[in-house]
Amino acid sequence: MRLSVRRGFILLLCLFGVYGAVKALYHMLMCQSGNPHSLRVSVVVKGHNQTLYHYNQDSPIVFVGGVPRSGTTLMRVMLDAHPDIRCGEETRVIPRILSLRHGWRRSEEDRWALEEEEITQEMLDSATAAFLLEVIARHGEPAPLLCNKDPFTLKSSIYLSKLFPNSKFLLMVRDGRASVHSMISRQVTIAGFDLSSYRDCLSKWSQAIEAMLFQCMLVGSTRCLTVHYEDLVLQPRTTMMTVLEFLNVPWNEGVLHHEQAIGQPGGVSLSRIERSTDQVIKPVNLEALTRWVGHIPADVLKDMHNIAPMLNKLGYDPSANPPDYGQPDPEVIQNTEKVLKGDFKTPASLKRPSQESIK
Ligand code: A3P
Repeated sequence: MRLSVRRGFILLLCLFGVYGAVKALYHMLMCQSGNPHSLRVSVVVKGHNQTLYHYNQDSPIVFVGGVPRSGTTLMRVMLDAHPDIRCGEETRVIPRILSLRHGWRRSEEDRWALEEEEITQEMLDSATAAFLLEVIARHGEPAPLLCNKDPFTLKSSIYLSKLFPNSKFLLMVRDGRASVHSMISRQVTIAGFDLSSYRDCLSKWSQAIEAMLFQCMLVGSTRCLTVHYEDLVLQPRTTMMTVLEFLNVPWNEGVLHHEQAIGQPGGVSLSRIERSTDQVIKPVNLEALTRWVGHIPADVLKDMHNIAPMLNKLGYDPSANPPDYGQPDPEVIQNTEKVLKGDFKTPASLKRPSQESIK
């Protein structure tokens, strides 16, 4: 009996020893595996008032996107007019990097070849996060809340939400007939959209917004908000109140007058080459709301249900041309009258003063 107690005690000691060794080994391997948060990236930028802004992967970044021609630029300039937020112009490189990154994960062959060379998925995630943060933080004046607007990034909301755990997403949604008329009438080239065909563009619009909405739903309502362009231009005050509350940012009247902040320090910086610049220099107005009506071929109108099933799902009656989008605020009616009279001035400078970067 005494012997078996001693044996039991030794066995217990051995078990503890083995458990300790396994635990130590696990920690060692976890460190080596390069968890994206272990290779932390941080960026410091000096503002025009000499304030230093520190950003890292835990910073609360806002991503604005949607199918191009859905009011994505309008949303970002309205946010830019808030003193605590900086979005800035499209970076163009961010969607490209995201698409490359997805390619490396999707392709079996690439994954195998990378693993052979000891390039892990975690390393690639860290490198992607570093690239994104660097570009977002340094391509404009710093602010407490950084924001990025490259329309197609919202196709990668799930991935971005993991890379930046405190990020939020604003998905701009617009009546697809208006977005498509906008791209065709203004000849805005978008990869995969055949600008000679309303049918093709409406079908591609439907697929693109479906994919983005799917990502948004998976990210969840606490981190992804859909904003209808029609609500933004008809009732900008209530819509922006909802947006700022969602972002946990205090209300600022400036967001309703973005046109006055263009080129101002801490205000709105506009690109000289983006296709929406000559529209966002105007105050929020109703010029573009129903411009598409009367331009879509009859055979496409007749088959709208099938061509663009997402219209119905998003609450746009596919057989109403146009549907009832809602009632405008009096301020918006005034803005529209001014715009139609040509009663507004293009600002002398589209760009804000540049900032200083610190490594
Ligand atoms: P139209 O081309 O139909 O005029 P995006 O920036 O996502 O490409 O969206 C462009 C659309 O946003 C354009 O639609 C444009 O008119 C609209 N937009 C830009 N500034 C606006 C403003 N100040 N008021 C209302 N709509 C605006």
